[in-house]
Amino acid sequence: MTSRVASGIDIVEIERFSLVDPAIRRRFINRVFTPAEQVECAGIDEHFAGKFAAKEAVSKALGSGIGKVSWQDIVITKDPWGQPTVTLNRAAAQIADALHLTDWSVSITHTRKIAAAVAVAVSSK
Ligand SMILES: CC(C)(COP(=O)(O)OP(=O)(O)OC[C@H]1O[C@@H](n2cnc3c(N)ncnc32)[C@H](O)[C@@H]1OP(=O)(O)O)[C@@H](O)C(=O)NCCC(=O)NCCS
Repeated sequence: MTSRVASGIDIVEIERFSLVDPAIRRRFINRVFTPAEQVECAGIDEHFAGKFAAKEAVSKALGSGIGKVSWQDIVITKDPWGQPTVTLNRAAAQIADALHLTDWSVSITHTRKIAAAVAVAVSSK
């Protein structure tokens, strides 16, 4: 067995979410975040920005960026203790399978101005 490790990082300015026209913001949020993610964010921009950064960090660990992999193919939710968890669907799951990346860890941080996230994936088979 060949073990693998992959990582990604991203940083986002939170005002990118708050300074846009409300109709554009709504469209953007519906495009990027699943209904479950939107519930967890509770309309709070630092949470949206943190999950956005986490999705980009995962897309870098996959090596794909966002494009063929869509925003909602990478789902970032919280476990009962608040720790982020990663669920991959469709193209993101296919790429992870092809790379044998089976186990994911994501960490998110934010200040009032920025949110950042790192993603790490390894193979366990
Ligand atoms: C890969 C991607 C996530 C990079 O994100 P970004 O915010 O554009 O740029 P960042 O500054 O965070 O990252 C740049 C670094 O990502 C890395 N990178 C580029 N392509 C990459 C890939 N396919 N896989 C992993 N890392 C990659 C490079 O190290 C790059 O640094 P460099 O420019 O000095 O070479 C980006 O290409 C992407 O897909 N972004 C989504 C674009 C989008 O749809 N935006 C609209 C918002 S709705």
